[in-house]
Amino acid sequence: SGKFFVGGNWKCNGTKESISKLISDLNAAKLEPDVDVVVAPPFLYIDQVKNSITDRIEVSAQNSWVGKGGAFTGEISVEQLKDTGCKWVILGHSERRHIIGENDEFIGKKAAYALSQGVGVIACIGELLQEREAGKTFDVCFQQLKAYADAVPSWDNIVIAYEPVWAIGTGKVATPEQAQEVHVAVRDWLKKNVSAEVASKTRIIYGGSVNGSNCAELAKKEDIDGFLVGGASLKGPEFAVIVNSVT
Ligand code: 13P
Repeated sequence: SGKFFVGGNWKCNGTKESISKLISDLNAAKLEPDVDVVVAPPFLYIDQVKNSITDRIEVSAQNSWVGKGGAFTGEISVEQLKDTGCKWVILGHSERRHIIGENDEFIGKKAAYALSQGVGVIACIGELLQEREAGKTFDVCFQQLKAYADAVPSWDNIVIAYEPVWAIGTGKVATPEQAQEVHVAVRDWLKKNVSAEVASKTRIIYGGSVNGSNCAELAKKEDIDGFLVGGASLKGPEFAVIVNSVT
């Protein structure tokens, strides 16, 4: 449902030099036309990326401040993201939830504020290994979804990224069946709790150890509408393979 969407989350990686090389590789890559392609550099490099990357690729931030900018030392506001040409922001990433300690309510507020300013939200959800093993995968994902749903006035500019924490940066990708099962559950949740229209229109992308070799199998699944890619997005040619896995 919806146009295939592939995001590259560069996380806290890169230097001016390595990013310049990555941009050249991305600019040179042949990308399937019918895919939304987005890269999310660290804040410091957004301007560099925006000024040198092809218009074919949109730019996202990896986080944003929860409200209007001002006296918030060390934060970056949505207004500033807009000023530098960011169309998207990744929110609720597991690294921010579990390492930095952001909670559902805070993330929901961030999402609502970004949307109010016209910036799209890549809204991450996903369970820890112990939660999966305890049979709580759906409960955890639904609770995280509810926090977004309670906070946002509209789902028009939201992409949901299902990223099981045990699959992130571990090389242990979810099987296509495991990912599909959760994506279907998320869509059902949206249908019951938001609307049938939002359920069918909202893109649900998968993240967690996606690479050039496993993307094709995942992309075949009906409810996998794209990917959020970490490590493999730092290599231009491999990221292009993932973009081009659209079926
Ligand atoms: P990896 O692709 O490195 O597992 O990271 C996934 C991720 O967290 C994307 O946001």
